[in-house]
Amino acid sequence: MQNQVWRLARKPPGGWPQAEDYLWSEEAVPEPAAGQMLTRTLYLSLDPYQWGRRRSGSEQPGDICHGRTVSQVTHSRLPGYAEGDFVFNTNGWQSCGLSGDGIDVFGYMLPRKIEPTLAPISTAIGVMGMLGLTAYAGLILQCQPSRGDTLVVSAASGGVGQVVAQLGRLYGCRVVGIAGSAAKLDYLRSLGVDAVVSHRSEFFVEELRAACPDGCDIYFENVGGGVFDAVLPLLNRGARISLCGLISQYGNVDGEDSRSQWRMQGEAIFQRQGVLVHDLFVGNFVADYQERFLQEMGAYVREGEVCYLEDKRAGLEQAPEVFAQMLQGDNFGKTLIAVSDDPTLTD
Ligand SMILES: NC(=O)c1ccc[n+]([C@@H]2O[C@H](COP(=O)([O-])OP(=O)(O)OC[C@H]3O[C@@H](n4cnc5c(N)ncnc54)[C@H](OP(=O)(O)O)[C@@H]3O)[C@@H](O)[C@H]2O)c1
Repeated sequence: MQNQVWRLARKPPGGWPQAEDYLWSEEAVPEPAAGQMLTRTLYLSLDPYQWGRRRSGSEQPGDICHGRTVSQVTHSRLPGYAEGDFVFNTNGWQSCGLSGDGIDVFGYMLPRKIEPTLAPISTAIGVMGMLGLTAYAGLILQCQPSRGDTLVVSAASGGVGQVVAQLGRLYGCRVVGIAGSAAKLDYLRSLGVDAVVSHRSEFFVEELRAACPDGCDIYFENVGGGVFDAVLPLLNRGARISLCGLISQYGNVDGEDSRSQWRMQGEAIFQRQGVLVHDLFVGNFVADYQERFLQEMGAYVREGEVCYLEDKRAGLEQAPEVFAQMLQGDNFGKTLIAVSDDPTLTD
C-alpha cells in the first residue's frame, strides 16, 4: 500500500485555486517511531482558511497540504492510543499520516480520541469540531443573543452558517438566512429559519430589507462584499457583529487587508449606531470553551435540535477540484472528502 499525497506545487500565483497549484504523489507509508502512531485518513475537511495559508506562504511549495482529519489508528506506539481507535488529527491531504512525538501539531488543533457512539465520527470536523465551535463562539459567546433579536447570517447553509442559524433559533432569535441558491434557501426553511434571501437575487437589497422589518441586532459575517453592503444600513443601535470570515474577498489580488477594508467601510455606521464588532478566531476559544461546547452541542445533536448537512465527496484525488468549488459556493453543507471507508458506517 502506498500513501497518496497532495503537496503544494507552487506559491499560488492567482486569486483562486488552479489545478497547477497542487502535486499528486504516491509515497511510502511512514513507520511510526516510539511515541508515535500511524493513522489512516477517513475524512478530510476542506475549509476556506486553507486557501489563506497557501496564498500567504504559511504553507510552502513541497509541503503536504494542511487539513483537519478524522482518522483511524492502524499502528500505535503512542501510549493511550490503540489500533482501531478513532481520532481527530491533522493528517492533511494524504491517505495516512503520523501523529505523536516529534510530529508538528497545528496550533490549537490538538489530536484527540473520538467516541463513535456519541455522534457520527465525521462530525468531529464539522458540527462537533472547529466549525461548530466557531458558530458557538461567534454567536453565543461574542454576540450574546437575546430572545427576540433579529439575527442575520450570511453563507447560512454552509458549514458554519447552518449551525449559527440553528443556534440562533434555539436562543430565541428571529433568524434571517442568506444563501446563494433556491435549494439552499429551501434547506434553511426546513431548519426553521424565519426568513431567507438569496444574495444572487436582482432585488437582494430590497428583499433583505423586507426580511428585516425591525432591523438587524446581530450579524454573523461569513462573506463580506455585496452582502455586507446590504446589511450595513439595517444595523440597529447597539447591534453586535461577529466578523467570522470574508469569503467573497479570498481571491483578491490587490494586496490589501480585507478585514481592515471591511472595518473602514463600516466605520461611520458602527460609530453612529454604537455597533460592537468582534473579530472571531476560533483558536482563541479552544482552551477555555471546547469542553463546554462539546457537551452543549452534543446534547443538541443527539436530541435533533441541531441538524447538520454534509457535502461529502468520495476520493482524495478530487480534493483540489472540490476545494475550488467550495470557495465559489458550489458546495451544499459542510464540505469534506471521504478518503477511505468509514467502518462505523458498515459495521
Ligand atoms: N474566524 C474563524 O475562526 C473561522 C473558522 C471557520 C470558518 N471561518 C469562516 O467562516 C466562513 C464560512 O466557512 P465554511 O467553512 O462554513 O464554508 P461554507 O460556508 O461551507 O462554504 C463557503 C460558502 O460561502 C458562500 N460564498 C462564497 N462566495 C460568496 C460570495 N462571493 N458571496 C456570498 N457568499 C459566498 C457560498 O455559499 P452560497 O452558495 O450561499 O453563496 C459557499 O457555500 C468563511 O468565511 C470562513 O473563512 C472562520
